[in-house]
Amino acid sequence: MGKICSRAFIFAAMMQTSAGTDIALARQYLQEGELVAIPTETVYGLAANALNDEAVIKIFEAKNRPSFNPLIVHCASWQHCLQYVQQVPAIAHELAARFMPGPLTFLLDKQAIIPDLVTAGSSRVAIRVPAHPLTLQLLQQLSFPLAAPSANPFGYISPTTAGHVFNSLQGKIPYILDGGAAAVGLESTIIGFNQQQQVLLYRSGGISAEQIQAVTGQPVLMASDTTESKPATSGRLKSHYAPHTPLYMGNLTELVKQYAHPKMAIISFDKPVQGAVTPYQFVLSPSGNLQEAARNLFAVLRKIDELDAAVIVAAVFPDEGIGRAINDRLSRAVAANKAV
Ligand code: TXA
Ligand code: MG
Repeated sequence: MGKICSRAFIFAAMMQTSAGTDIALARQYLQEGELVAIPTETVYGLAANALNDEAVIKIFEAKNRPSFNPLIVHCASWQHCLQYVQQVPAIAHELAARFMPGPLTFLLDKQAIIPDLVTAGSSRVAIRVPAHPLTLQLLQQLSFPLAAPSANPFGYISPTTAGHVFNSLQGKIPYILDGGAAAVGLESTIIGFNQQQQVLLYRSGGISAEQIQAVTGQPVLMASDTTESKPATSGRLKSHYAPHTPLYMGNLTELVKQYAHPKMAIISFDKPVQGAVTPYQFVLSPSGNLQEAARNLFAVLRKIDELDAAVIVAAVFPDEGIGRAINDRLSRAVAANKAV
């Protein structure tokens, strides 16, 4: 018995990881209860059959993710989503019509068929329709939805390319469906609804509060833990999305003086810091486009870890649209400096 277990372990540890655009192969692995990394417009996901407990457990193992942390369920269309949820408010239908497929996730009451493992015991499931042609094609060919968190080790930066996924999950999963670099580059916005059909924001992301308000005609409310019976979402854990290099965020001119170091990395929005003595300056969007800055953020953070920089100083981005999601991710990386 012991021997069989240890062989199985060695086999799992030595799994070959390949990457490509073979949807049939991805489908086959998923049907067999294996994990496949999938491209989405936000970040790459680590997918398994959402209706199969054993397959879902593999996600938690591969990511080192605590099992109290629920997973997002991905479907081919809003119509498909409706099979897995109940008591859908009218406003959710309107938002879905406007933004799905797209980077918006809904927290809705689940149907019993969604395993408790996927929702970490919550009666609500997080559900979305990703806007990536390869993954949509794959979902259309499957008879089940896909549970998929971001395809990074727990707490690290989400992957925006197949290469990022390969670097951290190589040997742990059989296949990466390579859909190129993610178009949005930050995770989806997560919203829920209160009794009055108002929208509660749980995580800022690819769809901005302004865009949601334009549909609902009402302000988006911040979801606070007091409005929730369940613990905060992992994207709301203070220290999340963190590079290994310590990061500080604020007024760049001051930070550059305060943390002066020959291996300092600087992340700015549209202009480099004049006179800074470091080869590691990253301007996320020279043309001042927040969408472009969001798309580049995670790749730049990974790059800086690879360069073995001593410290990162980052600007505060304009507090509007997807700029808020950028500031949210950077401030969580700051909090990670203090995490134990
Ligand atoms: O853009 C995205 O949303 C990407 C792509 C792959 O779809 N996924 C993603 O998954 O960011 P993940 O697991 O890294 O973040 C999902 C967040 C977590 O903070 C989790 O706690 C929260 O969604 N979440 C999932 N299900 C939930 C539930 N039933 N109730 C409350 N929060 C939930
Ligand atoms: Mg994540």
